[in-house]
Amino acid sequence: MKTIILQKEQVHCGSLLLVNAACPLRNRQKCVLAPADPRFPNILLNRNAATVLQMILDNISADGSIVPVSGYRSEEEQTELYEKSYADNGAAFTKKYVALPNCSEHQTGLAIDLGLNKGDIDFICPDFPYNGISQRFRDEAPDYGFIERYPKNKEHITGISHEPWHFRYVGAPHSKIMAENHLSLEEYIEFVKAYRTDSRLSYERDKQTENEIYFVPAGAAETYISLPENALYQISGNNTDGFIITIWRKKQ
Ligand code: DAL
Ligand code: ZN
Repeated sequence: MKTIILQKEQVHCGSLLLVNAACPLRNRQKCVLAPADPRFPNILLNRNAATVLQMILDNISADGSIVPVSGYRSEEEQTELYEKSYADNGAAFTKKYVALPNCSEHQTGLAIDLGLNKGDIDFICPDFPYNGISQRFRDEAPDYGFIERYPKNKEHITGISHEPWHFRYVGAPHSKIMAENHLSLEEYIEFVKAYRTDSRLSYERDKQTENEIYFVPAGAAETYISLPENALYQISGNNTDGFIITIWRKKQ
């Protein structure tokens, strides 16, 4: 076994970060960003998320029919968007569709708004319907690590209105588990807390591979995590009180 030592501030790093009005962004370090789409070099995304996004678009042969509308936003950009929407669209609309500065997951680089490639694209509410090529994207997304982040009927949990265009990279298998169980990210973060080092969630990925997932509460200063010597693993903070550990294992 080997031991990984995590510092307290690492709770605010990773692809499973929950960012919302109750859980503002704490880590202001810019992640490694890359164009969400080579044809739109100014729309940036976390590099892994950008690679995965292109894989999905290739796989569904989107051929340019889906375009990125908004990806990474700095604090200044989110502030400007919020204030402009407030002035142009009013308080009620803005609170529904634009997160407060530092409460937007666009500032993590893990969120992307997508639209159909047509003449007039609305920057805040792009058209991304539940049919055709956009639905094909939606159907494939969880296999690759993306989730539709603000679903209908979860508004009371997410605090944001239904946004068919906003996708969030959380990584697989988490995206699959959320989609299969109709869990928002808020619900999934709570759900995972029930699984601990000695009672892990097991997820069958395919015939050969399974994932083990569990939660480790953050220690006061450092958190110690024991892992098998050669394990393939990923650790993400949840942005509040602990770490989600994901281990890949060959099935016995
Ligand atoms: N539209 C989402 C909620 C944002 O502004 O982050
Ligand atoms: Zn968005």
